[in-house]
Amino acid sequence: MNRRDFLTTSSKVACACALGVGSLLTNSCSNPNEPSTPIDSTGLELDFDLTIDEFIPLQIDGGSVATGSNEIDSAGLLLLRSGDNIKAFTRRCTHQGVQLNAFSNGVSVCAFGHGAQFNENGNHISGPGDGSLKSYETLLDGNVLTVFGG
Ligand code: FES
Repeated sequence: MNRRDFLTTSSKVACACALGVGSLLTNSCSNPNEPSTPIDSTGLELDFDLTIDEFIPLQIDGGSVATGSNEIDSAGLLLLRSGDNIKAFTRRCTHQGVQLNAFSNGVSVCAFGHGAQFNENGNHISGPGDGSLKSYETLLDGNVLTVFGG
């Protein structure tokens, strides 16, 4: 990512956080029933403020949040607290691309699709589809989670 792209991305996130509109990241207009097209987000990064209401579940081990479509992943992100780290996966189901729900008891279900399930490592465990969910590098610094595109 060049400096201009970095500043543009960082500015958008900073503005969203400053304006208290972080919920835009969790409630964008993606339709969970319609597959989305993967995007190349190499070099991009998004920050999530875990003190914002929508992300408070990520302060507790096992807590999970599903975001809406964003610059990192057009299907949105599945975020899962795991000890001192937070894992990030695409919400794009490996079957036909419908959005997955946040993890509950370590399992994410494709409830809007055909019921596929994925474990907390992003591996397919039941239902149609196969393989693993795309995962993203993350960095947790205090209450700020950074997800790196790729
Ligand atoms: S799209 Fe997820 S199970 Fe079919």
